[in-house]
Amino acid sequence: MRFAGKTVLVTGSAKGQGAEEVRRFAAEGASVVVADVLDDEGEAMAKGIGDAARYVHLDVTSEEDWTALVASLDALHVLVNNAGVLGPFTPLFKSDVGAFRRTLDINLVGTFLGHKHAGRKISQSGGGAIVNISSISGMWGTPYAAAYTASKWAIRGLTKAAAVELGRNGIRVNSVHPGGVKTDMTAAMGDDGSTDWYKRLPVPRIGTVDDIAGAVLFLASDEAAYITGSELVIDGGTLAGDLSLIPPAP
Ligand SMILES: NC(=O)c1ccc[n+]([C@@H]2O[C@H](COP(=O)([O-])OP(=O)(O)OC[C@H]3O[C@@H](n4cnc5c(N)ncnc54)[C@H](O)[C@@H]3O)[C@@H](O)[C@H]2O)c1
Repeated sequence: MRFAGKTVLVTGSAKGQGAEEVRRFAAEGASVVVADVLDDEGEAMAKGIGDAARYVHLDVTSEEDWTALVASLDALHVLVNNAGVLGPFTPLFKSDVGAFRRTLDINLVGTFLGHKHAGRKISQSGGGAIVNISSISGMWGTPYAAAYTASKWAIRGLTKAAAVELGRNGIRVNSVHPGGVKTDMTAAMGDDGSTDWYKRLPVPRIGTVDDIAGAVLFLASDEAAYITGSELVIDGGTLAGDLSLIPPAP
């Protein structure tokens, strides 16, 4: 019950990783706000959890939505900036500038607005933690996903700036960097985790929402009281080294 008496807000939590995080926060005593643009799925998700969760419509790109949501809260202790889109998988030379801007708007500007509005509420509530969901695409380049890659690198920078600035407000800020995780996002790329690529990883499988939720709850909890401005990679070893260069065992 690490979050008893705490209020937690998870953006983009009608499904996928965010939904699992909501379930886990609620199971550990938190009062959780499920925020998304998928109203039907979000309502159903929150209802399935019971009194510990409620759904609020939040388009993370809308400053008005953030203002209204935060005004409805008595207190806030944890924000997980999880909402994100992959955007179109497109070669750079054929990329549409509107689509590029839209991906940055949701992934980066949405995360910034979370710091501005929900972060202020956390400060007024006596401090807490912000966990930003970046990606391993924030640590290497993912081809045909320039906007996604740029947005996830930018979230790393935002995390660092916020961690330094908000320490005096009693707020810790860290980023999480998942590798491939089995959700609708990977499914949309035709990736069900069955490819040889996953079989070659040190942990030879695709990630699960459970793998990520455990790390997010840790960083949000008092167990991580001395961790801020940090990056937690959860990728089964994808970034640990170039697997194609491993020689046969001597
Ligand atoms: N699945 C992966 O392999 C993977 C890997 C690394 C990082 N991530 C990141 O993890 C996070 C969660 O993704 P997921 O895998 O659960 O995918 P998902 O598509 O299942 O969930 C994304 C959620 O964000 C919501 N969302 C999109 N635009 C929004 C907006 N404007 N306002 C509010 N909510 C919005 C969607 O409705 C959805 O519920 C994302 O930030 C994603 O970039 C995913």
